[in-house]
Amino acid sequence: MADHYADGTCRWWHLSRPSPELIAALGDGWLPRGGRALDIGCGLGAEAGYLASAGWQVTGIDLSGVAVARAAAEHENVAFLRADVRQLPFRSHCFDAALDRGCFHYLPAGDRQRYAGELRRVLRPGGKLLLRASLRAAGVRNDIDEEVIGHTFAAWRIENMRRAAVPTDTRTLDVIIARLSARGREGATV
Ligand SMILES: C[S@@+](CC[C@H](N)C(=O)[O-])C[C@H]1O[C@@H](n2cnc3c(N)ncnc32)[C@H](O)[C@@H]1O
Repeated sequence: MADHYADGTCRWWHLSRPSPELIAALGDGWLPRGGRALDIGCGLGAEAGYLASAGWQVTGIDLSGVAVARAAAEHENVAFLRADVRQLPFRSHCFDAALDRGCFHYLPAGDRQRYAGELRRVLRPGGKLLLRASLRAAGVRNDIDEEVIGHTFAAWRIENMRRAAVPTDTRTLDVIIARLSARGREGATV
């Protein structure tokens, strides 16, 4: 499989500063002032590094070995490892929050429930997921919409969901931004 960090495709989505929606989530208190966070599909680690500098203990995972190596070289305050979100190498309920800026929509539709299940497993009950799912992959409209997100995260609490145009270093992307929280197995969010 092509590594988009080896062939330069990552210029389409890479943002070398923290995203406005992450800054907003910290600024309005939806994300608390610290805790343990997982950045899923972390790429070059810009968001993970920012969250770490804001006081969080952050782990970034990505399938791309090139991305993980570059992220680790740039952000010493974050633990990076090559891992697949569909099979996370972490114990249950060990994270307070997770970020996904652009990974979810890459998964085949048949893997979405597994994604949601793995994240719910590693987040503590009430843990937060800031999801940014792009409406296009390689410029082509995909099937991501509010219904897909609602169905995938039916066992979660969707606190807010909206469409937005978000910046990268080279262009603007149309995405759905969702703030979710993990329910425990009994349905409680805290
Ligand atoms: C659109 S990029 C976004 C990268 C980064 N979050 C950013 O904002 O620049 C999606 C990332 O998800 C990673 N990815 C795709 N499938 C994955 C999987 N199953 N497990 C972990 N990472 C994955 C890709 O390697 C890529 O780095």
